[in-house]
Amino acid sequence: MALRKVVTKEDPILRKKSRKVEKFDEKLATLLDDMAETMYAADGVGLAGVQVGMLRRVVVMDVGDGLIELVNPEITEEEGEQFAEEGCLSIPGEYYETIRPATVKVKAQDRNGQWCVYKGEGLKARCFCHEIDHLDGVLFIDKKNPNPKPKEENE
Ligand code: NI
Repeated sequence: MALRKVVTKEDPILRKKSRKVEKFDEKLATLLDDMAETMYAADGVGLAGVQVGMLRRVVVMDVGDGLIELVNPEITEEEGEQFAEEGCLSIPGEYYETIRPATVKVKAQDRNGQWCVYKGEGLKARCFCHEIDHLDGVLFIDKKNPNPKPKEENE
């Protein structure tokens, strides 16, 4: 395993659309291992392939309940709304309130190509949305709530 460099906001690669993974090989396994190591080292809860310069539809996430690897993920269902402050390892030091679905269902392949279904609410739902957006070149700053609630009401 090895740490990879996380690209930041100024890098135009973050605006590109990632390509579908077709080969479930050793290279993919290494990429996923490296991404997890990089995410944990940076104290992040999620990381998309493009953030380490790889335009592949891959995501790693851990919101505190274990590592999830998503290959070719898609949101299949979403419900409700939630408001919370969000950040991104590629946009250090910036945190804004965004509006995300309260719950989502995600379908994705694992490192062997097996399809799996995930459900998330709260931070996990937020993280699924944030990371899957990265695969289409969308950043959380695009979804900044223009009328955030005053801090004290955010408790
Ligand atoms: Ni991000």
